[in-house]
Amino acid sequence: MNNKTIAVAKGDGIGPEIMDAVLHIFSKAGVPLHYQFVEMGKSIFEKGFSTGMTPDAMNTIEDTGILFKGPMETPKGKGVKSINVTARKVWNTYANVRRFRTLKGVDTIFSKAGIPINITMLRENIEDTYGGVEYLQTYDVAVAYRFITRPGSEQFIRYAFEYAKREGIFQITCGHKANIMKLTDGLFLSTFYDIAKEFPEIQVNDLIVDDLAMKLVRSPDKFNMIILTNLQGDILSDLCAGLVGGLGFAPSANVGDNISIFEAVHGTAPDIAGKNIANPTSLLFSGLMLLRHLGLISYADTIENALLYTLEQGQHTSDFGTKGTSPLSTDEFAEAIISNFGKKPSEIINVVDTGTEDFEFQKPEEPEYMEIMYTPTEDHDPEKITGTDIFICSIQSPEELATIAQPLLPQKLELKIISNRGTQVWPHASKYTDSVALFSLRIELKDHNSSVTELEILQLASVISNHLKVVGVAFLKEWGALKGYSMVQGE
Ligand code: NAI
Repeated sequence: MNNKTIAVAKGDGIGPEIMDAVLHIFSKAGVPLHYQFVEMGKSIFEKGFSTGMTPDAMNTIEDTGILFKGPMETPKGKGVKSINVTARKVWNTYANVRRFRTLKGVDTIFSKAGIPINITMLRENIEDTYGGVEYLQTYDVAVAYRFITRPGSEQFIRYAFEYAKREGIFQITCGHKANIMKLTDGLFLSTFYDIAKEFPEIQVNDLIVDDLAMKLVRSPDKFNMIILTNLQGDILSDLCAGLVGGLGFAPSANVGDNISIFEAVHGTAPDIAGKNIANPTSLLFSGLMLLRHLGLISYADTIENALLYTLEQGQHTSDFGTKGTSPLSTDEFAEAIISNFGKKPSEIINVVDTGTEDFEFQKPEEPEYMEIMYTPTEDHDPEKITGTDIFICSIQSPEELATIAQPLLPQKLELKIISNRGTQVWPHASKYTDSVALFSLRIELKDHNSSVTELEILQLASVISNHLKVVGVAFLKEWGALKGYSMVQGE
């Protein structure tokens, strides 16, 4: 069997206790892996590494392609970014995979009502507002860029369909908010349906995310697999964790083409750190996803069956389970699982026997350079600029702004609309619309068949800035019938 090496970061707080417990279980099961321990987390931030990782740790993770990590603490308010988000983004682990299912021995209102849950949720992991690109456009107005890209969505959604096919899942629901965010969520949703055509054996549907949240709570047994953009997926995946007993039972994998990260989703639990009472189940489930990713299917099946059997027997750590039975320590819980190797749980939904053979994991070729993903220009209509939105910081009325701006425009352009927070305030307005001191002047070509360049627009912004405080410029673009900007509310 392949004695592969993986990078392991034990993490902070309860991290070392639960990681030791999981690696002990792996060792007793004979899992053929070597571990290279790397330094990441709180102590590394304190040594002045702003990424929370040493260069050595980064090299090891890139060499092995796999990071198994415990929870880590990111110091608050010290100008450093979350180590977890940094790791996911730097190594382009574009798909977050989490599985939520009813576990016998972990009581929830659904398990008590006999409603089985078995939901796999895939969340896009890089884009959306997680770019963390934000600006104060004025003292009062913060804006964030929300990146939803065609290549990023394609990469993630294609992985999701391939994952479903591999796991024998034949129904995928896409959650979105394309009714409001027609360009961002609209792009994600249309990419979902485009890629679905490549997988005719998988049934697909979509639901607006608020409706999806309600349906998940009312009838979680109706869902097999759900895919979502980053922020919506972040929220709904914790909702699903709540349906099956909390974060302690929901494994997580962050999968990329070259590097993948397997981690527990709960935090460092500082309140119980060092007491040997933490629950290692979430990290163990994540470790099982890691073993399957590496082709160590039979080892994962043995351990998972033993874990499910242990839970079914009512053995538990102090954070869950029946009050009547005394809780086990972290170490005792691990030993209980080890003593149950070879046993299988009784519940059908819980029995793990994937039927897949072990396989030799091949680490993908190291990329030679940073790839730039894009749609070739010949695959779409040519780009045309038809106008601009110029953002103005002002406490003047929209009528006054229009009176100042209109004489400054070149012949071919006209002021169409002034809006405030996306709502029209000129030429038509309601006195009930409150505004803030940030207006957008929408300026468009009078004759749609003519054209305007980036330079002409920047020159116009420069002219306007002699009279008004310009705080931003956006280009209005079209590609054939595709309009690259949203309508103003009330337009
Ligand atoms: P937390 O998940 O650490 O703790 C919340 C509650 O759940 C606490 O009462 C804790 O004792 C309990 N808990 C968590 N995991 C447990 C386990 N395995 N067994 C038994 N009980 C468990 O969340 P909190 O308190 O918001 O965050 C603490 C620290 O963890 C923060 O520094 C935060 O930044 C970090 N964190 C790290 C994450 C990661 O590395 N993936 C994720 C979330 C938080």
